[in-house]
Amino acid sequence: MEFAGANILSVDQFERSDIEQVFAVADKMEPYAKRRMVTRVLEGAILGNMFFEPSTRTRVSFGCAFNLLGGEVRETTGFKSSAIAKGESLYDTARVLSGYSDIICMRHPESGSVAEFAAASRVPVINGGDGANEHPSQALLDLYTIQKEVAAKRGSLDGLRIAMIGDLKYGRTVHSLVRLLRLYKKLHVVLVSPQELSMPEKYVSELLEAGHKVEVSTELTDGIAHVDIVYSTRIQEERFASQEEADVYRGRFRLNQAIYTKFCEPNTVIMHPLPRDSRSGANELDNDLNQNPNLAIFRQADNGVLVRMALFALILNVVDQVDRSAREVNWYHRRT
Ligand code: NCD
Repeated sequence: MEFAGANILSVDQFERSDIEQVFAVADKMEPYAKRRMVTRVLEGAILGNMFFEPSTRTRVSFGCAFNLLGGEVRETTGFKSSAIAKGESLYDTARVLSGYSDIICMRHPESGSVAEFAAASRVPVINGGDGANEHPSQALLDLYTIQKEVAAKRGSLDGLRIAMIGDLKYGRTVHSLVRLLRLYKKLHVVLVSPQELSMPEKYVSELLEAGHKVEVSTELTDGIAHVDIVYSTRIQEERFASQEEADVYRGRFRLNQAIYTKFCEPNTVIMHPLPRDSRSGANELDNDLNQNPNLAIFRQADNGVLVRMALFALILNVVDQVDRSAREVNWYHRRT
C-alpha cells in the first residue's frame, strides 16, 4: 500500500510487505523512542488526538510518538468536553478538526465511526479503536512484539502457535490481530473463551479459509499448553448491557505463576493489550507473574511508541529525513 497520506482504519488494508515496512521503520525509531537521540522531523505538524472512550496507552503513546518526532499534540477526551455533546455530527467535527491538524487519531465507542469520520476529514485518520470492531495500530504493535519475542526461538511467524483468551466477542484487539495473523502461514490458533463470548464466526472462517488450524476451548489449561504465545484479554464490560451481565464472566480465566509453571511450555510468552483488570474478582494476569521474564506486557506497551512513530513517519512521508535532523540528547538519561 501507499502509506503517504493514507488513513489507517483496518488491518485489512495491509499486505505482508506493508507490515514488514512498518516494522523496519519501527526498528529505526528505537534511539528516539528510548530518548538517546532527538529528531525534529515533524516540527510544525499538529496531531489531533481525539479519544471518546477511556484510554491510557493508546492515547499517550500516540501523543508521545508524535512529540518524539518533533510534532505538537492537541487532545480532546470524552464526549462531554466536545461539541458532539451539543449534537454536532461526526461529519462536521471531522471537517472542522481536520482544519486544525495534520493527522488525527480517533477512538470512538461505535463500530465504523472512525471510518465515517475519516471520510469527511481533510487529513489522514488513524483508528485508535472503534467499538468492538478494530484496533489496527494495536494489532501492529502486538505482531511486532510477537516477532521480537519469538525471534530467537523461531525465525519466522509462519507456524506460530498462539492462544487468545478471554472476551473474544467484544475484544477489538483480538479481532484485528487474527486478521493480521491470517497473512502468515500454517498458524495454530487456540481460542479460549466462555461460549457466549466466543470469537465472531467471520474471523474464524477467515482463518480456516487461509489454511490455519483453529482450536476452540472453554478451558484455560487446555488452551495454554502447547503454544508460543498466550494473549490474554479483559472482559470488555463497557460493551455489555449491564454490569451484572459482565460480572458473570469476570475472573473466568486467571493465569498465575503456578498455573503457568504447571501447564505452559517453559518459554511461553505472555501478552495482553492492557489494561489488565487487577481487581480481585478479575485478575486475568496475576501480579505474581511480574517477575516472570516471559511476561512481555510492558515490552509490548513500549513497542507501541515505536510502531506509532513508524506510522506517523510513513503517513507524513518523512522516513528518509528522520535521521537527518538527529542529535544526541544532552540531559540526564537513565539508560534502561
Ligand atoms: C484495549 C482496547 O482499548 O481495545 N486497550 C488498548 O488499547 N491497549 C484493550 C482493552 O481495553 O481491554
